[in-house]
Amino acid sequence: MIRFIQGERIPLSEDSFINTSTAQFYDEHARRFMGSVYRRFAVKAAGIKTPGKRVLDLGTGSGRLAIELAKARPDWFITGSDISEEMLKIARTNASQAALTDRIDFHQTPAESLLFTDGCFDLVVSNSSLHLWSDPIKVFNEIARVTMPGRYCLIWDNMRCNILNPFLNLLGYAMGMSSSQRRLWLQAIRSSYTIGEVKALLRESDLKDARAKIEPRFLEISIQWKKPV
Ligand SMILES: C[S@@+](CC[C@H](N)C(=O)[O-])C[C@H]1O[C@@H](n2cnc3c(N)ncnc32)[C@H](O)[C@@H]1O
Repeated sequence: MIRFIQGERIPLSEDSFINTSTAQFYDEHARRFMGSVYRRFAVKAAGIKTPGKRVLDLGTGSGRLAIELAKARPDWFITGSDISEEMLKIARTNASQAALTDRIDFHQTPAESLLFTDGCFDLVVSNSSLHLWSDPIKVFNEIARVTMPGRYCLIWDNMRCNILNPFLNLLGYAMGMSSSQRRLWLQAIRSSYTIGEVKALLRESDLKDARAKIEPRFLEISIQWKKPV
């Protein structure tokens, strides 16, 4: 029964956003429909009691979460990383328009093998990227490696529940999404994990003591972890 409700996962390629047109299409979607998610994420992240200032936004895309974090915490320096240079080009423009280039920089690097040194971040965040990672366990291990002991990570992603997709399609329509925007959103949800799948992946990784839960608000999974000292 539960399997019927959740449905089968239909993976997307992690290269889904490498073209200029898909990157621009995503950024327009993010600008119009995801502002409240970024603001909620930023409030949650800003409340994490980390003494340091160096934050990594993994799979930063067009940088809109990084910008929201920089606004929420004027003492933080944010690094956005992504596999897609096209997304990062838009992210640099967005950060420049927000006059935040002094506190946000961007690097192209795959999440499975980050170019950053061990323990160099006080907080690692990621929103809506996990469902695209080709090897989530490897990425979780990389997050554990680049996080400083005693510091944190916070990951959010969609939760798959395919039985709700017709309802979500209607909701997207009511929110003013075009048919291609609704397709993008539903593809992301179909390629996302269930809470049981996320917990199983975490158990296989260096984040095995992370806390994963369903966010009560809206088909979202959150993962929070503190690196042992
Ligand atoms: C749906 S977008 C989300 C972007 C941004 N975090 C946001 O909330 O708007 C997913 C992003 O993850 C990136 N991505 C996917 N797989 C990746 C990987 N293996 N390493 C780094 N970035 C990846 C994609 O290029 C894309 O920019």
